[in-house]
Amino acid sequence: MEDLIAVLTSWSVQFMAALVFLYVLLKSFKRVRYTAGKRPPGPPSLPLIGHLHHLLFGLPHHSFTKIAEKYGPIVWLEVGALRLVVVTSSDIAREVLKTQDHIFASRPPGIMTDMVFSKGQDLVFSPLNDNFRRARKVFTTELFSQKRIDSFKDLRRDMTLRTLRTGFEEGHANRYITLADLLHKDFLNLTTRMLFRMDMDGHAQTKDLLEIIYDIMHTGWFVIEEVFPLLKPLDLSRQVRRLKNIGERYSELMDSIIDNRLKENSNSKSNTEEDLLDVLLAMSNVSRDQVKVLLLDIIVAGAETSPDTIVWAITEILRHPNIMERLQSELDDVIGKERLVEEADLKNLEYLQAVVKETLRLHPVVGLGIPHFSTEATKVSGYDIPANTRLMVNLYAIGRDAKVWENPLKFDPSRFLNSPVDVRGHHHELLPFGAGRRRCPGMNLALVSVAYNIAQLIHACTISLPEGLTHLDVDVEEKFGMTVARGNPLNLLIKRRLPLDVYRRAGLQLSGV
Ligand code: HEM
Repeated sequence: MEDLIAVLTSWSVQFMAALVFLYVLLKSFKRVRYTAGKRPPGPPSLPLIGHLHHLLFGLPHHSFTKIAEKYGPIVWLEVGALRLVVVTSSDIAREVLKTQDHIFASRPPGIMTDMVFSKGQDLVFSPLNDNFRRARKVFTTELFSQKRIDSFKDLRRDMTLRTLRTGFEEGHANRYITLADLLHKDFLNLTTRMLFRMDMDGHAQTKDLLEIIYDIMHTGWFVIEEVFPLLKPLDLSRQVRRLKNIGERYSELMDSIIDNRLKENSNSKSNTEEDLLDVLLAMSNVSRDQVKVLLLDIIVAGAETSPDTIVWAITEILRHPNIMERLQSELDDVIGKERLVEEADLKNLEYLQAVVKETLRLHPVVGLGIPHFSTEATKVSGYDIPANTRLMVNLYAIGRDAKVWENPLKFDPSRFLNSPVDVRGHHHELLPFGAGRRRCPGMNLALVSVAYNIAQLIHACTISLPEGLTHLDVDVEEKFGMTVARGNPLNLLIKRRLPLDVYRRAGLQLSGV
C-alpha cells in the first residue's frame, strides 16, 4: 500500500511538474518579441526552442560554420528567449569589432555571471560600464603590463624546466605522457604562483582551490534556465543551485586567502616578491569582491588557453615531419646545441613565430570568442540588429575562410613569412585573440608562453609517438568546452635531445636520464 501511494505521489508530482514546465515554456516563447526590421537570414526555427537544436548536437563552432555556408556570413538565430547574431567573415567582423565596437562591446547578463562572478564585477563578464573601464585598465596597466609580464619571466622558465624534467623522467622509464595533462598541471601551477605565490603541489588551501577551479571549468556553461528565463525559479537542471554553491565556495576560500595575506603583510617586514594578489590589494579603488573575481578571470581565461594552444602546435608539428625538421634546424642555427632557448631568443626565431601564428589560425582555442551584447539598435551589413542581441564572431571559421586563405586547411607556417598579417586584432582575417575594446588582455603573456614552450619542446626534447604510429596517425579531432582542445589525448615519449651538461648549466638537475 505504501509503495502504491509512493508511486501515485511521484506520478502526480511528475505530472504537475510537466504541466508547470509546459506553461513556463509557453510563457518564455511568448516573451520573444519580434520588432520590425530586416533581420539577417537564418535556418527555419522550431516552435518554442527556436534554433536550440543547432547548439545541442555536434560541436557548436562546426554547426555555426555549416549554417554560415548555407545562409551567409551574418546569420540570425533564436535560442529560446535569446536572440543571437553569428558573424563568419572578416569584413563583417571588422564592422562589429571596429566600426561599431562601441555598440557591441558589452556582455550579456547570465547566471554564471551573477552567481560566480559577483554580478559581472570582473572583467570577462562585465557589461560595458564604469566597472569594465576600471577593470580593463587594471588588467592592461597593472596585471599584464609588459613590465609585469617580464617580472614573471623566471617563474615561466622554472615551470618550463619542470615540464622538461617530468617529461624526461617519464621518458627514461619508457612511460608515455599525455601532453595536455602535463601542461595543464604546470600552467595551473604557474598561474597560482603568479596570483598567490602558491604552488599547487605544496599548499594546504590549494586542494580546495583546485576542486573549485575544476568545478568552474567543467560545470556546463550552457544553462537551460538562461534560454527559458521563466524556468529559473524552478531550477529543474539544478545548474542555478550548483553555480551558486561554487560561487559561495570560491568566495569563502578567497576570503581566507586574503585574510592570511593581510595578516602576513602586517606581520612581516620582509620584502617577499610581489604577486598579483598584492598588486590588487594595494589598489584603493578595487573592492575585495572585485579582487576575488579579477583573479578568477585570470585562472578561467588564462590557465587552459595557452597549454591547449601548445598541444595543437605540437600536434601539427608531429603531423608534418618537414615542419619539425625546419623548426629544429632554425633552433639549432640560432641557439646551437650548447645551451637551452631563453625568452630573449624568441624575437630571432622567425619560423617559430610563423608556426605560432599558423597554429592560432587553424586552432584558435576560443573558437567562438566570448559572446558580445549590443547596447543599442543598429544596422550591420544592411540588416537591422536590435539592442540586447548576443553577438558571436566565429573566429574558427574566419581563420579557415577559403575566400581569404589559400589552401585554408593546410598547416603551412611559411604563409606568414614576410607577411604583414599578425594575430593582434588589427587584421580581421585572423582574430584568435578577438579585436577592439574586448580584445584579450592576456595576449602578450600568451604569445610569449606559447612560443617559449614550443621552442623548448622542439629544441631540448626528442619527441616520439607510441610505437607503431607514424605522423599519418596523428589526428586533429576536437572537443568543445571552455576551449576548443584536442579531442583525443596526445601520448608522447619525451627524451633528452641535448648533452646532459646543457640542462645542468641551465639549472635543471637531471639524474640518470
Ligand atoms: C593562446 C591563449 C589565449 C587565447 C587564444 C585567448 C583568446 C581570447 C579571446 C578570443 C577573447 C575574447 C575577446 C572578445 O570578447 O572579443 C579573450 C578574452 C580574454 N582573455 Fe584571453 N586568450 C588567451 C590567453 C589568455 C591569458 C593567458 C589570459 C590572462 C592571463 C587571458 C585573459 C583574458 C581576459 C581577462 C579576457 C576578457 C577580456 C574582456 O572581456 O575585456 N587570455 N581571450
